[in-house]
Amino acid sequence: MLPSSAFGIQVNSTDLQTPAGAQPEKISDVPLTDKFGRTIHDLRISITDRCNYRCVYCRTGTNGAAFAELPFDDYLRMARVLIGLGITKIRLTGGEPLLRKGIVEFVRDLSKLRTLQGKKPEIALTTNGHLLAEIAQPLKDAGLDRVSVSMDAVDPERFARITRVPNGYDSVLAGVRASQRAGLDPVKVNCVLLRGFNEDQVIPFGMFARDEGVIVRFIEFMPLEEGRVWTPEVVVTLDEIVARMSEYRPLVEIERAPSETARRYRFSDGVGEIGIIAPVSRPFCGHCSRIRITSDGKLRTCLFSVWDHDLHELMRRGEPDDKLAEFIEAVVNKKEERHHIGEPGFVPASRTMVHIGG
Ligand code: GTP
Ligand code: 5AD
Ligand code: SF4
Repeated sequence: MLPSSAFGIQVNSTDLQTPAGAQPEKISDVPLTDKFGRTIHDLRISITDRCNYRCVYCRTGTNGAAFAELPFDDYLRMARVLIGLGITKIRLTGGEPLLRKGIVEFVRDLSKLRTLQGKKPEIALTTNGHLLAEIAQPLKDAGLDRVSVSMDAVDPERFARITRVPNGYDSVLAGVRASQRAGLDPVKVNCVLLRGFNEDQVIPFGMFARDEGVIVRFIEFMPLEEGRVWTPEVVVTLDEIVARMSEYRPLVEIERAPSETARRYRFSDGVGEIGIIAPVSRPFCGHCSRIRITSDGKLRTCLFSVWDHDLHELMRRGEPDDKLAEFIEAVVNKKEERHHIGEPGFVPASRTMVHIGG
């Protein structure tokens, strides 16, 4: 097929011959693998980089320039091609993904796709939870499997100081509970710990995990913020979190999938699970299975990539699916071996977290 630009016609990529939601074609028998032998099976799609919160460790507090958002059909086509290459799990992120109208229909369309094994892809969502209460059940009905909600304190006042939005705590708690009622299981709560700010929340979050029946995951702070405030001293490490939590109740480490971001722990009495995501003190790059699409349709092979790869440009030019697949395979082959947080000469990523998606 000739690129549409050859005719001097502006073609909207949603008008291409292959309908965006058509079943993925099996493009390759070999799973998508990078040059270090890592199989890429997790896709994370950021559907907006707008956010209704301004968390202190993420954003400067002013609204910086935003990247573009694409029509959902464009993300759907990208997802379909990537599933044809072996992706089995799709996580929707932002910014705050629930700010986008049409997300329920998008999830419904994604859930009609089939992996190379003939299964529905696993579909998950990472959200700040502010708008979740109302939409949790419709999302579940549309095919969403799981949700991760960001919460950095379990007390309303501290929560407001961190998010810089008044009265958010109750809405987020309602969102967590609505997700559980809807069966978006297991509900995970992600908490980024910052020294001097919320490290005293470790035990309260342990209690919260047990009382609410959610998996609370503590995340080591990474240098991905807009304000460039990261220093190694601010990071509350895995060892420290385990030590603090053990003062409340002993923890027992349990098995996890090799490509999982979190180390998993149960409390010794068997009630409640917590996780620790420790990219700084225990990097997990060696088993990374992830690739990302930004809201403006760029592929990112690492959170810390210093460049991205314009997949959407190929769509705008009218390239067919097999050309997109070739491009994706070539990009995956350039996936970085690991991040270099804390090393001399560390080069910051070309985008901050809010513009990548977690
Ligand atoms: P599961 O699907 O439940 O395994 O969740 P997940 O951990 O893949 O997704 P989630 O959005 O909950 O990720 C939690 C956090 O882990 C993110 O917000 C990031 O802070 C961190 N994280 C996720 N992927 C990566 C990665 O590839 N590299 C690094 N360094 N951190 C990551
Ligand atoms: N380091 C670690 N996690 C971060 N998040 C946002 N910024 C950072 C950072 N610099 C987390 C959010 C949310 C997810 C999208 O990423 O708290 O849980
Ligand atoms: Fe928004 Fe998430 Fe950043 Fe907080 S951490 S400002 S919720 S993108």
